[in-house]
Formats: sequence, C-alpha cells, structure tokens
Amino acid sequence: MKNLLFHEDPPEISEAYNERARVILVHGDTLETLRGMPDATVNLIVSSPPYNIGKAYEARQELVTYLDGMKPVLAELWRVLSPRGSLCWQVGNFVDKSEVFPLDVYFYPILKELGFKLRNRVIWHFEHGLHCSVRFSGRYETLLWFTKSEQYTFNLDSVRVPSKYPGKTHFRGPNRGKPSGNPLGKNPSDVWKLLIRDWETQLWNIPNVKCNHPEKTIHPCQFPIELVERCVLAFTEEGDLVFDPFSGVGSALLAALRHGRRAMGIDKEKSYIQEARKRIRLLGTDALPYRSMGRPVYQPTGREKVSQVPRLWLDAEKVNP
Ligand SMILES: C[S@@+](CC[C@H](N)C(=O)[O-])C[C@H]1O[C@@H](n2cnc3c(N)ncnc32)[C@H](O)[C@@H]1O
Repeated sequence: MKNLLFHEDPPEISEAYNERARVILVHGDTLETLRGMPDATVNLIVSSPPYNIGKAYEARQELVTYLDGMKPVLAELWRVLSPRGSLCWQVGNFVDKSEVFPLDVYFYPILKELGFKLRNRVIWHFEHGLHCSVRFSGRYETLLWFTKSEQYTFNLDSVRVPSKYPGKTHFRGPNRGKPSGNPLGKNPSDVWKLLIRDWETQLWNIPNVKCNHPEKTIHPCQFPIELVERCVLAFTEEGDLVFDPFSGVGSALLAALRHGRRAMGIDKEKSYIQEARKRIRLLGTDALPYRSMGRPVYQPTGREKVSQVPRLWLDAEKVNP
C-alpha cells in the first residue's frame, strides 16, 4: 500500500475495527474493543496509557488496583500484535504523598511475563514542568520499547540524527583517515530530548498564547506528534497498522498517517474523539498546527525578559552567586 499521505484525499474514518480501513477511531472502552479485534494484525502499538494520577479522564485508584486493571488490556495487546511488531509504552510516575512510584518499573514485569522483550528504555527528557519543594523536580518520562519476538522491524536509517562531528575519521587500522561515522547521521540513542521544552518556550515568546505548543488542544497530556513519528519510522513500514489503544486527541494516528501508515485509536471520551477527527481532517493542510520533526529546540538568548534575574531578587541580594 503506497502513499497514504492525505494531501489530496482525507480518508473515511471507520468507527469500528475493519481490516481494510486506513483510519479507525473507536469511541469506547479499550478492553472491550480489543476483545473484538483479530490476532496479530497490528504492527506497532504506541501509547501513553492513563497514569492513574487523577487527570480529568480518570478516577485515581490504589496503584495495585490500577495495575490489575491494566493486565487484561496488556494481554490483549500482546494478542493483537503481529510477530514482528513493537510495543512502545510511554509512562511517567504515580506519586502518592510525595512518594514516587515509577510506572515503568511496575509495568516491566507484567510485560515480560506476557513474553515481550525489552529493546530500549528510552528516557524522554524535557526541561520544564512542576517545581517540587520536597524532592528534585521530575524532568523525564520513559518510553519502554518492547518487541514480540527476536525478529522485528527496526529501520535505524530512517531515524538517524545529524552527527555532532561528521568529519571524524578512523585514527588507525585499515580505514585510517576515512570518515568513521555514517553519512546518514548517528543513532539517536536512548535519551530523547524532544520538544516539551518548546511547549514551554512558546509561552516565553508569545505571552498572549497561554501555555501553548503549536499542537496543544483540549487534552491535558497529549503526545507531541514528533515523539511518535520517530517510533513510526523506526518500527514500521508503509501501509502497516499503527495503534494507540488510549488515543486521546489522536496524536499517534497523525504521526502514522503523515508517514503513509494505517492508523487506529480508541478513547472513551467523546470530546477527544471529536478533536482527533478534526485533526485528522486537517492533516496535510496548513491548518493543522504541527511542529516538524527534528526542528532544533529553542535556545534562549539570555535577552528574553524571562531569562533575566528579577530586579527584586538582585536588590535583596537573594540570588546565588
Ligand atoms: C495519557 S492520555 C493519552 C493522550 C494521547 N497520547 C494524545 O496524544 O492525545 C490517556 C487517554 O486514555 C483515555 N482512557 C482512559 N481509560 C480508558 C478506557 N478504559 N478506554 C478508552 N480510553 C480510555 C483517556 O480518555 C485519555 O484520553
């Protein structure tokens, strides 16, 4: 299946699983929907599940109750994943009375028990967020990349990033003097400094647009499309099916469709489904706010008002030397 990009042709959005559909968006419960899906049909599952931290769309539960509720979902995800497929499970921390419970640590044994094989524990680092006073402020989340088997799709060349020193050469041996790197760039490594920084710097630059990244919607914690694009390009081929079982406003679907993959999402909140439909319709037009993949993150110059030490602190000599 070739060129599913949507410049000319916004596709029909199917409301239920259908093996021929290019886009499937189900308004419903994840577990119930999964139970109606056939085995081994999905090539990439990429999701940020509810973290049980009391967001508008979730009731906070005991950690053990939350994890017990996720187990049947994860078992179904294993079943629907194709043998060469990958699961990217992006999570942060559950926090109770300032005690931190890193969710990837709890999910790992459950996924391992199901048969998933961990290939990377990617650190998604960002530089802004809540400022803590009784512990260090959290500045990363993790993305666990698992495969279903030993034979899996991994297109490293499609996600290489520019080398810092492309001119480096071998300094001994038969290749002495020849370039030692890869002309396509270097492996992006397992620490991803994607754009949450920009979500914040927009606030610095455009103060009248509140707390806004260009992609920001009604959802309280949506994926940057760029984060999913890297997974889509590395772990799937054109025409493959990319599936987000907790799809929110459809960021994973947009990343998939942008690169000629098929896409499926499920969410229980009607308003998020409606927003996802709207964004899919806008895909390929200038009207879809989108931060392009690989754009350098904003570096403050030091001249911005927010980069400068407040006069009040200087006068009170409160600033650290
Ligand atoms: C962390 S958010 C995912 C956001 C998404 N990655 C995006 O970019 O918009 C988790 C989503 O799971 C949905 N959700 C929670 N429990 C669900 C369930 N049982 N069935 C379907 N969706 C559910 C919530 O409505 C929420 O949108």
